[in-house]
Amino acid sequence: MIPKTFKIKSFGCQMNVYDGERMAELLDSRGMRAAGADEDADLVVLNTCHIREKAAEKAYSDVGRLRREDGSKPLIALAGCVAQAEGAEAQRRSSMIDVVVGPQAYHRLPELVAEAALGRRPVDTDMPAISKFDAMPPRRRASPSAFLTVQEGCDKFCTYCVVPYTRGAEIGRPSRDILTEARSLVAAGAREIVLLGQNVNAWAEDGRGLAGLIRALAAISGLERIRYTTSHPNDMDDALIAAHGEIGKLMPYLHLPVQSGSDRVLRAMNRSHGADSYLRIIDKVRAARPDIAVSGDFIVGFPGESDADFKETLNIVDAVGYASAYSFKYSPRPGTPAAMMEDQIERDVMDQRLQQLQERIAYHQAAFNRSRVGTGTQILIERAGRSPGQMIGKSPWLQSVHVETAASPGEIIDVTLVAAGPRSMTGAERARAAA
Ligand code: 5AD
Ligand code: SF4
Repeated sequence: MIPKTFKIKSFGCQMNVYDGERMAELLDSRGMRAAGADEDADLVVLNTCHIREKAAEKAYSDVGRLRREDGSKPLIALAGCVAQAEGAEAQRRSSMIDVVVGPQAYHRLPELVAEAALGRRPVDTDMPAISKFDAMPPRRRASPSAFLTVQEGCDKFCTYCVVPYTRGAEIGRPSRDILTEARSLVAAGAREIVLLGQNVNAWAEDGRGLAGLIRALAAISGLERIRYTTSHPNDMDDALIAAHGEIGKLMPYLHLPVQSGSDRVLRAMNRSHGADSYLRIIDKVRAARPDIAVSGDFIVGFPGESDADFKETLNIVDAVGYASAYSFKYSPRPGTPAAMMEDQIERDVMDQRLQQLQERIAYHQAAFNRSRVGTGTQILIERAGRSPGQMIGKSPWLQSVHVETAASPGEIIDVTLVAAGPRSMTGAERARAAA
């Protein structure tokens, strides 16, 4: 029987969140409805992530938990990067998985589900040259801050990373399609658009880079804020840096992963930038936009990382003064060059380094938050807070701001940032003009 209701569960990065939304819209356009709870869904799509440890194991145990008390189960589709990496092997490991669909093939999800409903067990991990986006229905729903994928895949081949294998080669979407999707997101209520790509700043078309695309998006009325993530240092061109000083709608926030502060480790990671060249980019960005909040990603315990290498990572954290950052323990990914390297680092060394790094990052984050106290700014209201009358919005620097206000999600209000916590800010609304 063809399923009538579905539930999509997305794990991992923002691009998976975006893909999950698009799969939902696709199923919806074919007459299926979103189910409230897992138990009510005829079809469950697990949109998985493969970037770090035990990703596949986690996916299989998530599948196992979908068995119901009476022994029945929904139709199960394994999607996302674990699906791409495991392929047909997934169905050998778990007989509960009916459909396997990779991140570049999910435009075929309705057909694959229809096949599975007939008792077949289709696998589609193709990476077709024709973009899946062309087969998608138009956007009809959007949150105040909406994701929009403009680029997928990666050609950089950092030695620890599975992305070039699970998401394929770098491919940018045509600007015409991106602008059309942006307009429909704005018509559906988005005030902010976050441009997504594994290497978003590598996006280019006819010699025009991401800065040109941002400029075109900034001309859309009703769209108030633009962000982009994630960027590679080597693709941070001068036009994009300048855009931070020139385009008012481009928010003062930059996520620019460095991964390590040690040139030796960066070389072994095949990052093709050094600590100094990274710091020079940050200097240039700050010259264009002095208040920019800089964020990053770090890996501790890459094979061969010595205490001295790790110190250099702490040094670069101090040198940049990150407003926020994500840090991870190195996890060997099957099939990547680093997984075969000697000198894998012991667990407890990794744990210690991670803790030390996170303390250092938290120190700078708190300092950045404190530096904003007293600032008058605007926040985009996203959702209700815990207490009545309290709402949560985002500052231009991507801080969560708690504020007492009658404003609804999607409104942009004037606030003064009055207090800083380690992870969020408190704002006081400034007088609103009478409606
Ligand atoms: N181990 C640990 N962290 C990783 N990342 C990517 N691959 C690995 C891995 N094998 C981190 C990087 C990247 C972020 C998305 O995930 O820091 O920027
Ligand atoms: Fe992975 Fe490196 Fe590509 Fe980022 S740039 S997706 S870390 S290979």
